Amino acid sequence: MRPDPSPDDPTAGQPPGSAPAPTPVRAQAGADLQTWWRLELLALPELEESLLWKLQALGIHRVAIEHTPRTPDQRQLLAWLPAADWPQPERRQLELALAALSDPFGLTLPPITWQQQGDEDWSLSWKQHWQPDPVGSRLLVLPAWLDCPVEFADRLAIRIDPGNAFGTGSHPTTRLCLEALERWAEGPEGPREGQTRPVRVADLGCGSGILALAALKLFTAGAALGAPAASAPAHGCQVFAVDCDPLAVRATWANAACNGFGAPAAPSVPGGDAGVVGSAHGAGAAGGAGAALARGPQDRVGSLQVAQGSVEGLAALLAGQPADLLLCNILAPVIEALAPAFATVLAPGGVGLLSGLLVSQVEGLSQALAAAGWRAELVAQQSQWGLLAIHSARPVA
Ligand SMILES: C[S@@+](CC[C@H](N)C(=O)[O-])C[C@H]1O[C@@H](n2cnc3c(N)ncnc32)[C@H](O)[C@@H]1O
Repeated sequence: MRPDPSPDDPTAGQPPGSAPAPTPVRAQAGADLQTWWRLELLALPELEESLLWKLQALGIHRVAIEHTPRTPDQRQLLAWLPAADWPQPERRQLELALAALSDPFGLTLPPITWQQQGDEDWSLSWKQHWQPDPVGSRLLVLPAWLDCPVEFADRLAIRIDPGNAFGTGSHPTTRLCLEALERWAEGPEGPREGQTRPVRVADLGCGSGILALAALKLFTAGAALGAPAASAPAHGCQVFAVDCDPLAVRATWANAACNGFGAPAAPSVPGGDAGVVGSAHGAGAAGGAGAALARGPQDRVGSLQVAQGSVEGLAALLAGQPADLLLCNILAPVIEALAPAFATVLAPGGVGLLSGLLVSQVEGLSQALAAAGWRAELVAQQSQWGLLAIHSARPVA
């Protein structure tokens, strides 16, 4: 994820959707162009999330996963490191730290290759790894700087500036969530025809905002009932999103603006950090061609509130009215720790879609969720990754 433009950011003032410039993560005003080390290795499915997490933890945020929709299991992990900060001994330490992640799985880390690149190369590398990516039957993840290809014009385009591997839609856990969200929107548990109140969606760990934006698109473009976007009734949608990472909050914010949910209102959450909390309203653009829907009555328009925080912050945003749908794509141990508080953000008759877990973790996590009052069911999987749907185990009044 890219931080907001700062005074020393050469992209400051560029319109949303313009190509990301080759800005070092911590650019200094007047700094010389940097060279970069490009790390590359095959991302084994069992290790991918741990590897991405480790790189994040080490402050390495220029990360990408290269894959094609036709070869989902052949995934290359790429990371760009400022060469000045990563001389050979540090890169060796990094290799050892990454190799250690494979021990618990009884695996050997595939070989790591290093390639030195100039700033310009870095920029080109970055862009060429992201292509329009259809997900499910209605959605399209569209790199923010590209026009929507004609063949995808009937899809709901989610424009994303993929400054981070999480939330580009390429990770199986994100895809699982997007596909499950689409199924929920069109299925019997989703909003009914004739429903007048807006759908309330909670996004816990929003990353780039991709899930929040998908919900907004689905429920403001009238796609929820599977009808053509222009003719179906839109329910309207209120999305509440949090992430503990301030960069994720800013990225969600920037991507919301890129998708027609801009015009931030004044910070709205008591006790929130005014720098990273806000709300936005808008009617999502239908399809990738950018045809904006006419703004309807307020309850048919999407609104988004974003704050830095975790489940407590989400409950504060929801202000005592838990959501119909909870989206949460975070590692299994984190979900387990958060589960006792899910009742504060998910209504008793609502559904939670939990991703970020390995299929091998389903049994243990389901037990922990049961102890917290949630009935969990594995409803989808991609390679080693699973998606749980949760319902309240208590009778709904
Ligand atoms: C795997 S990414 C998912 C991003 C996006 N929702 C998606 O599906 O692609 C997980 C996100 O959860 C955030 N996160 C991790 N632990 C969290 C916590 N306890 N509370 C809130 N956010 C958390 C991370 O900062 C990260 O942005």
